[in-house]
Amino acid sequence: MTQNIVWHQHTIDKSERAKSLAQKPSVIWLTGLSGSGKSTLANLLERKLYEKSHHTYLLDGDNVRHGLCGDLGFDDKARVENIRRISEVAKLFVDSGLIVITAFISPFKDDRRFCRSLLADGEFIEVFVDTPIEVCEARDPKGLYKKARQGDIKHFTGIDSAYEVPEAPEVHLEYKDEAPEQTAERLYEILKQKGYVS
Ligand code: PPS
Repeated sequence: MTQNIVWHQHTIDKSERAKSLAQKPSVIWLTGLSGSGKSTLANLLERKLYEKSHHTYLLDGDNVRHGLCGDLGFDDKARVENIRRISEVAKLFVDSGLIVITAFISPFKDDRRFCRSLLADGEFIEVFVDTPIEVCEARDPKGLYKKARQGDIKHFTGIDSAYEVPEAPEVHLEYKDEAPEQTAERLYEILKQKGYVS
């Protein structure tokens, strides 16, 4: 596919863009079950970073599936393609100097590893939003677990589609009954302590 196509080296690069934005570009990759709270936390984290004058962009599963990935379903092959596209987009945004926050179930280790492989060391920060499935199912904000249990939705993560738990995420965030604002604050503090954001 990349035959007869030549890579253009531009004169302004990532480091110069990052310098003008005064920040370290990265991808903060939230992964977890449906209903685990990824989108809520990602949204709160983005606001927090914005308030600290960081330049960010939030990529969210439900939203991206309205456009860029609107042609994809939820079988394994479609999920792999979904995360491949998101990873390439995240890489472009990092190249533009941004801190990218993503909120996708991203159930497969290989696909998360693929995104990591596109980025430089230290640029991919995997955050496992670890909410037990019973809690996700009790929350069921969109009524999808109920539909999946009734067999009205196929390939539902955690029910009849796999979720591969991250083995060594940069951040393991347990999130059960704490308020979202508190959890987002906790996440921000961990990211700061570990030197991923300022
Ligand atoms: S994936 O696995 O990363 O490709 O999924 P993602 O792009 O993050 O999309 C997840 C949201 O799609 C809705 N939805 C489903 N989730 C899981 N399994 C099935 N079969 C499914 N069908 C629809 C659901 O609203 C997910 O949103 P979140 O915010 O994760 O609950």
